[in-house]
Amino acid sequence: MYDINKIRNDFPILKTTQNGKSFVYLDTAATAQKPKCVINKIGEIYSSCYANVHRGDYAMAEDVTAAYEQARDTVREFLNANSSHEIVFTRNATEAINLVAATWGQENLKAGDEILLSEAEHHANLIPWQITAQKTGAELKIFKINDDGSYNAEEFEKALSSKVKLVSVTAMSNVLGTIFPIKKMATAAHAVGAKILVDACQSAVHQKTDVQDLNCDFLAFSGHKLYGPTGIGVLYAKSEILNSMPPYQTGGDMVDKVTYLHTTYAKPPARFEAGTPAIVEAITLQEAIKYVSKLSFKNIMAHEKELLAYFDEQAKQIKGLKIIGTAPNKGGVICFDFKGIHPQDLSFILAHEGVAIRIGHHCAEPLVERMGYASLARVSFGLYTSESDIDAFFEALHKVEHFF
Ligand code: ALA
Repeated sequence: MYDINKIRNDFPILKTTQNGKSFVYLDTAATAQKPKCVINKIGEIYSSCYANVHRGDYAMAEDVTAAYEQARDTVREFLNANSSHEIVFTRNATEAINLVAATWGQENLKAGDEILLSEAEHHANLIPWQITAQKTGAELKIFKINDDGSYNAEEFEKALSSKVKLVSVTAMSNVLGTIFPIKKMATAAHAVGAKILVDACQSAVHQKTDVQDLNCDFLAFSGHKLYGPTGIGVLYAKSEILNSMPPYQTGGDMVDKVTYLHTTYAKPPARFEAGTPAIVEAITLQEAIKYVSKLSFKNIMAHEKELLAYFDEQAKQIKGLKIIGTAPNKGGVICFDFKGIHPQDLSFILAHEGVAIRIGHHCAEPLVERMGYASLARVSFGLYTSESDIDAFFEALHKVEHFF
């Protein structure tokens, strides 16, 4: 059984106040709050077992190296990757996508090739490809989604041709909540000879990710959205692709042999982890993965679906509340317009009531504009979100009405 009160007890921050009111956190899509096991692990590592990895041969350095590599294997298991050599630790998903765009992209793309993205991409899965397109002469193509924010298979298939060498798409939009059918898209991409990169930042938090089942070539996610620490992200890439890629950054720990004039590089994943990595963050990410896995995605998804239905039911009663992104298959991310009130005013009043939401273009400015807005307010759920959080949101929204 999903015991929401017990789960909320694991997150100390949910007991705090904001502006003298209980802290109602509805901004998990921006970053997730942390369970005690994650918070405690950080202190535990620094106080009892900390040294650099892959360098020292004293016992503690060896223990930390083993813990860091164990964390990599936990990520492998989490994604059902074939080998832990396919798991590269990065700073976040943004860095993971930039890495692929700058290495695989610049090495393999050329004039006449196309890079295909959806209209729903976050800036982190758009700008790196703009730069790669400029540098290689490849063309950036954007396929349309439907006006309700849902995936449009026809538009995707129309845009796919043998010119497309890479499809790079989000598995779940951080604005619309739309869940994209990645497995089908991967099959279609491969059929025209393209590779597919999946931005799993939002989806990896809400549903099981199985890279072998999806048959994706690359996948990226961030630790901080998965209830883990900031400063750690993951790039998954199929080993034959990763082996062929040149380094992204250079320096310590990514080399095979260095002379004054020449360097040969280590095999992946070390080739892509130059310098001292985020050791504590990687080991702590493992703690977050264990926490989420214990709750199980089946239960987390069921809980979030119930919350969505609960939210929708109340939203229907409110005149002037328009949800932007109503795809039938969506996760717990809800952008909305309320009577045309500027999202900044809205968020200011909600914050006064202790309710934290995000407003703006959500790092997806072209998408928000395509939906007809310059800025939107967004509520997003996590595994600890409760119906009382949603009640608090609607109560605060009623207060907004008094000001306009
Ligand atoms: N990409 C994160 C969000 O949607 C930061 O808020």
